Amino acid sequence: MTSLIFILAQLAVVSLVIRGVYLCYFHPLARYPGPFWARFTNLWRFFTFLGGHHHLSEHYLHEKYGRVVRVAPNWLSFSSLQDFDAIYGFNKSVEKGDFFTFGRGPSQREMSIFSTKSNAVHRQKKKKVFGPALSGTKVGKYESVVTKHVAVLLSRLESSRRPADDGIAAVNVAPLMTQFTLDTMLEILFGPALASHPYTDSAAAGDICSQLRKTTKMAWSFSLWPTYGWVMNSRTVSALLRRPFYTKDGIPTGMAGLMAAGHFSIMRDPESIAQSPQPGIVKSWLEVPADDVNRMTQGEILAEAINMVFAGPGSTTAALTAITYQLGLEEGQFWQEKIRQEAAFIGSSTMAAPIPLELQAVIKETMRFRAVFPTAFPRVIQPGAEGIIPSLSSPLPVGTTVSANTYVLGRSRKLWGDDVDEWTPQRWLGDDEHRRQMETKFVAFSKGSRGCIGRDLALLVLARAVMALVQQWQIRSVGQLEGRSWLEMQYDDCWLELKRLDPAW
Ligand code: HEM
Repeated sequence: MTSLIFILAQLAVVSLVIRGVYLCYFHPLARYPGPFWARFTNLWRFFTFLGGHHHLSEHYLHEKYGRVVRVAPNWLSFSSLQDFDAIYGFNKSVEKGDFFTFGRGPSQREMSIFSTKSNAVHRQKKKKVFGPALSGTKVGKYESVVTKHVAVLLSRLESSRRPADDGIAAVNVAPLMTQFTLDTMLEILFGPALASHPYTDSAAAGDICSQLRKTTKMAWSFSLWPTYGWVMNSRTVSALLRRPFYTKDGIPTGMAGLMAAGHFSIMRDPESIAQSPQPGIVKSWLEVPADDVNRMTQGEILAEAINMVFAGPGSTTAALTAITYQLGLEEGQFWQEKIRQEAAFIGSSTMAAPIPLELQAVIKETMRFRAVFPTAFPRVIQPGAEGIIPSLSSPLPVGTTVSANTYVLGRSRKLWGDDVDEWTPQRWLGDDEHRRQMETKFVAFSKGSRGCIGRDLALLVLARAVMALVQQWQIRSVGQLEGRSWLEMQYDDCWLELKRLDPAW
């Protein structure tokens, strides 16, 4: 028996050595440079991600090794715009892979538009999800809900300001931005029946803001190390770690409470959403006629709604926090004034007006400079896409994972020039041709058919909130803005001094 164990152990060691030699010297990606441990295991990537500075290490690796870096045994990272366009542009043969099942493996559950692998299936889903609820004209209908929540944000900021004699008071806006975007998104999604106004003030909300942030971080880490993801998703571990909390009346709170309420409203009581006079995303999906091919089943609607709870608020919070911080810096004062002037010009009665160019420039420059999703979204090479990446001299094997990180692109000197590390909204302004050119470099919402379908909504929320803030206060940033890149950028602290502009105060 002992000798059998000894032989098995020897065999295991030999096969590990053979695999190591193969991955290091004979694997099709062996020719590409990268960190030593990345040749053998995904764990290197997993641990850097958990540290929250994954984007900085990926940037450093591209500075060190150049345009192509092997970041895991079967994964290449790219840093040029051309390669980004090849990976994420309109290309039928580069698809999403199992990564987007977040350790659950091929699931019986309804896949959302975000996790669907096949481009053909995705095309069908997009018609159902985007057209009825998220196109430009549909998003305009959510304006009144956004305005309502902007007013809540302003009053929360007002009451959180620490009083000071000179009329200037500092406030940590980071948690308030998180509440604002979640409240806004939930009411736009589910309507007032479920998302009582504002949701995060309700007993059912519990600790939902921090739970949501933890969940996105965990989900991404599950995909980076699928074995860990599989264990964490097992029934036993789930039961131990994800026990719901309840109010005194036995109502589940936090994420569990929201999921239960969403499930109940959509699967059992859709009329409560459909009958609301207020425009909303789920309501728009429910209103698609039953004989329309783009009508979703209730299961599909639930999957898409839950996906949007994860996709929308965290990213919009990261963008809004960074924008207000940048505006509060010395170089941002000029842009605050510009936005104020634009807002005065537009007038308060025309809320549906397009976003002023100066504000668009501030938003885009901040998203370049402080990437909202500094975590690369992986794609898998399918048959037909082997030779698609322009910077490679030889084809990639089918099944290779490829990605390009928006943080790395945003900080690429080749792409932006010597002032890459300066926040300069001016670079986005100019004549039509210049702005069209610049648009090709704007990758924050990704590109192609899998690009963000919430872009118009996110821009609306950002623009309305920023305009309202700078019209009410002169903003000054205090200290540094330090974030962790756990899928989206997550900020705990963003201290701003807010000085009332209205002399009557
Ligand atoms: C500033 C805010 C936002 C940023 C920077 C952003 C960015 C992105 C990016 C980069 C992707 C591509 C992901 C990939 O390649 O796998 C994406 C996809 C997506 N986003 Fe956003 N997003 C934002 C806000 C929103 C909002 C508010 C919603 C909800 C309405 C949303 C819903 C989605 C969905 C459903 C997808 C998947 C699209 C598909 O696969 O067809 N996003 N987003």
